Formats: sequence, structure tokens, C-alpha cells
Amino acid sequence: MKLGVVVWAEGTEVRFRVAEGARVERGMLAKVEDRGRVYVIRVVDFKPESLLSPAEVAVISSKAGRGDGVLLRDRDLRLYDTAIATIVAQIDEDGEVHGPTSVPALFTPVVELERRDLERLKLHTGDLPIGYVRFGHAPVDVVVALDGARAIPHHFLVVGGTGAGKSNFGRVLAASVLSARGRYSLVLFDCENEYLLGSKPGEMGLAHLPLSEEYLLLITHRVPRPGRLRIELPELGEERKIPAYPLKMDLSRLKPSDFTLTGEFSAPQEELLWLAYKQFGEEWVSALLSADSRTLYSRLSRLVPVNTINVTKRKVKHLTGDGDIFCRDCGYDLATAALSAVQRGRVVLIETPFATEGEEKLLATCVARRVFHAYESLRKEFPEKWEELPPVLIMVEEAHRYLGKQALGSGDVRENIFSVIAKRGRKYKVGGLYITQMPSELMEAVVRQALTKIVLSLPTKPDYTTIINHSPYLDDAEAEIKTLDRGEALVVSTPSGFRFAVSVKIFRYEDYARTLIELQRRELEAGAARAAQHEKEKI
Ligand SMILES: Nc1ncnc2c1ncn2[C@@H]1O[C@H](COP(=O)(O)OP(=O)(O)OP(=O)(O)O)[C@@H](O)[C@H]1O
Ligand SMILES: [Mg+2]
Repeated sequence: MKLGVVVWAEGTEVRFRVAEGARVERGMLAKVEDRGRVYVIRVVDFKPESLLSPAEVAVISSKAGRGDGVLLRDRDLRLYDTAIATIVAQIDEDGEVHGPTSVPALFTPVVELERRDLERLKLHTGDLPIGYVRFGHAPVDVVVALDGARAIPHHFLVVGGTGAGKSNFGRVLAASVLSARGRYSLVLFDCENEYLLGSKPGEMGLAHLPLSEEYLLLITHRVPRPGRLRIELPELGEERKIPAYPLKMDLSRLKPSDFTLTGEFSAPQEELLWLAYKQFGEEWVSALLSADSRTLYSRLSRLVPVNTINVTKRKVKHLTGDGDIFCRDCGYDLATAALSAVQRGRVVLIETPFATEGEEKLLATCVARRVFHAYESLRKEFPEKWEELPPVLIMVEEAHRYLGKQALGSGDVRENIFSVIAKRGRKYKVGGLYITQMPSELMEAVVRQALTKIVLSLPTKPDYTTIINHSPYLDDAEAEIKTLDRGEALVVSTPSGFRFAVSVKIFRYEDYARTLIELQRRELEAGAARAAQHEKEKI
């Protein structure tokens, strides 16, 4: 269908006159065919063209205001809409797709992009599906999928205001990673119990996917000891037995780095932690918590002022909480369990609905630190083993709390594990999945270095300006970002091979889960049938 005619082309911008009756929407892709080349363009905004004089506007608007009929002579010559678009790709005669190197001639027609053209852009060839291509508010039947192996080490940034669909995206991504059957791993911290079963009745979670029995590790207060957690799913008429580990970490398994990499300790306090570790060995945290400051002062050979001991004790107490998660003599070590699952390509879901802010921080730090450390040392010591490790993505909700502008480099506050991963994780296949409502509060380097960005509806100017300023392809995206509805996103992912900001309707998790459930059921049944046949042949 014809959408219009090119009336201006300069640099990578194309303006076209919108044809009478054509429906053109912001974010929509269209094409211009000229001398054997196809230019794929993306509509970014609109501008009316008017050759009416101010006097005519005054007369006509006044008439229209009174409800009188308006008759405008030569209307189509003097008043029309133009759409402003950017050329996002050029497809040459041989089918080669690349960035634009020329512009279409004036007055060439602009037409709708066909499915075949859309497929040539290779938005669907990645292995982590996240949604559908979207024209305006209407999804099109072409899937958008990220390329896990390339995108994960380069970090993901998910931004959006309240209720924009961040958690829904998190669940969709987790489902895609789970369905990749061990190719990648993902660590999720879920403080609102949203991921396992969804956040309210009628929603779904990772437990609904049949593959969760094999590829999910749940770390949760729901089980007293390692084993499988039985979950009834009446809406599917099924039950799952999901591998689970208690949300417990023995204090004796904590190392000083687990604390220092929270970024909460000053240099003298850090020294005290190491000194205590040297003095008390495995019992060091218990000793710091229970011995009084005077006793510690003398046990530590009077090397540390009592004041520092007091402050450090208070911080350690804040981070370890009341003993529910960080326990004495319980013998559990959730961080090691998480690491071992990560190395086998699992989705590790850590549920922390009752944790305090301090406990959450220490938990996230000690899990992320172990994963990073293990990947880093394997790469250095046993590169061939490291090669076999799946790339891992570690999620951080409220990322501005860990990667805030003020959080680093000023006064007493120190580097933390997530800023380390943001800077150095890429080399070791450790990526961060940073989720925040306030990207303007993030360190600029983090916004810049996250090469995959999922931009959901973001109402405030400083927030979307930060994103636009530090991402490719978003220069003209302001108008679209402001008008995104719930679940709609602009996706930038250079590692996935996307050459422009793709307008995406993120799958609604429940819809996506239903297709995956069907698919996985069939795969599992086929697998079981093959195994039975194999057995029979052996007999
Ligand atoms: N892609 C989508 N398609 C359809 N509905 C969606 C989509 N994304 C989110 N929603 C709906 O919007 C609601 C809010 O989504 P979600 O909880 O993911 O938002 P959020 O950004 O995480 O919000 P918060 O800031 O409160 O954490 C959900 O009830 C969900 O059903
Ligand atoms: Mg949320």
C-alpha cells in the first residue's frame, strides 16, 4: 500500500508527504524503492506543511470554531502532512543489507514494508525472543529476538517508569534464557515474589514452564533443606517439582570481600575486616557481631581504634540482619549453590521478599562476587574450561542504588561488585542486567556501556535525555519514548545486529508462557518417547 511520496532527503533523513487516507504511525517502518535499491525508513515524527497565510488561518479557524463548514480551495496543494523519517538500512540489488550510503530520489513513492523485507533486517534471528515488531501501537507478526552470546557480556539496561513493564520484560527474558536449555545463565533477585508464579492470581511465572524442572534453581525460604519444591498449577492441571535450595548462608562462609564489595566500608573499616578474618578465621563475622568493642580492641592487638570497631560492627550487623538468612552453624551456602547452577547454564531465582535492605545488598554482593570471581579466575587459569562456561547475566533491580552517580568515587563510598562487573565483566562473559526507573541517576559509563537497551515508557525528561544522549540510533526518538504505552519499548542492541532502534511490543508474559508451555510439553514428550524406544531396542 502506498503511504506517500518523498519530498525531501538529506543525510539520513527523509521527509515524505503522507498520502490521502494512508495510516502512518510514529515508529513504523516503511520502504522506498529507487533504482533497484530498497531504503528502509523509520518514521520518527510528523510536521504539517501549510501554505496558508495567517489571515486565511484566522478566517478559517474562526469559521470552524463556530461549527460552520470550511471550504478550502486547492486544499491538497496548500495543506498536507509530512512524515519525518530516518533511513535505517539500505538493501542493495544483491540483497545485501547495510547502513545507508545514499538517499532516494525526490518524488519516489513510499510504501508499506512487507514481511519479506522485514525478515531481511534479521530482527528475528537471535535466540532470545522478547516481543513483536511494532508499527505505532500495533504489533506485527515478526518476532524480535536478541542474540544471547553477543549481547549478554555487553550488559543490558532496562528503563521505564512505574508500571511500564520492567518486571514483565524480566520474566520474558528469563523464560527465553530458560528455554535456551543451558546455553546461558541468569541470576535474578526477586524481592517481590513476582517471578516464580507471577505477582497476582491469573499471572504466570517461571514455574509454569515445563523446563523449569530442569533449568531453574530456586533459592527460597519456601524450603528448609535442598531438594525439590512441589508446586501445584491448577490452571494447567499440572504440578512441577522445581530444584530448590534454602535461602540460608552460614556466616562462616562469608569472606571480607563479600562485605567490602558492597561498597559500604571505608579503607580503615576494610582493614579491620581483614584483620578480624586473620585473627578469628572462619568465626570472624560471629566474633565481630558478638564480642564487645573493648574485647575486640585487645584481641586485634590494639591496631584499630574503638570508634572504627563500633562503626564497622554496626555496618556488619546491618548487612547480616537478624540471622534469618545469614545464620550461625546452619551449614548452608547459597552462594556456592548459585555458582554451581550458573556454571551449568541455569536460571537462578533468589526470592527475598522478607529480606531487609542490608541483607539484600549483602546477598546480591556475595552471589555476584562469587560468580564474577569464578569466571575471572577460570579465564586466567584454565582458559579452555572458561570457554565452556555459559555467558551469565546478573540482574540488579533498582540499579541506581548500586551504580548511582554519587555512589562511587566520593568520600567514603567505595567500588562495589556491580561497578566492577560493569567495567570488567565483558572480558569474562559476565554481564549485568540493570533495571531502573531513574536512568538519570546512573553513572554515565554504565548507560553508555550497556549495549542492549530496552527503553520502556519513561515520562521524565532528565531520564529519557540521559538515555538518548548515551545511545546510538536514539537521536530522534524523544517523541516516541514519550508516547510509549505499557509493554511497548524501543530496543537498541548493536551486539544483536540491530542497526536502528527497533519499536517492539514486548510479549505479555502470560501469552508467551502459553506458547512455550505447549512447545516444551511436545519436546519433552518426544524426548521421552525416544528414550523409551531406545530402552526397548536394548532389551
Ligand atoms: N508487554 C506487556 N504486554 C501486556 N501487558 C503488560 C506488558 N508489560 C506489562 N504489562 C502489564 O502492566 C502491568 C505492570 O507491569 P510490570 O509489573 O511489569 O511493571 P513494572 O515496570 O515492573 O512496574 P514497577 O515499577 O511497579 O515495578 C502488569 O500488570 C502487566 O500485566
Ligand atoms: Mg517491577
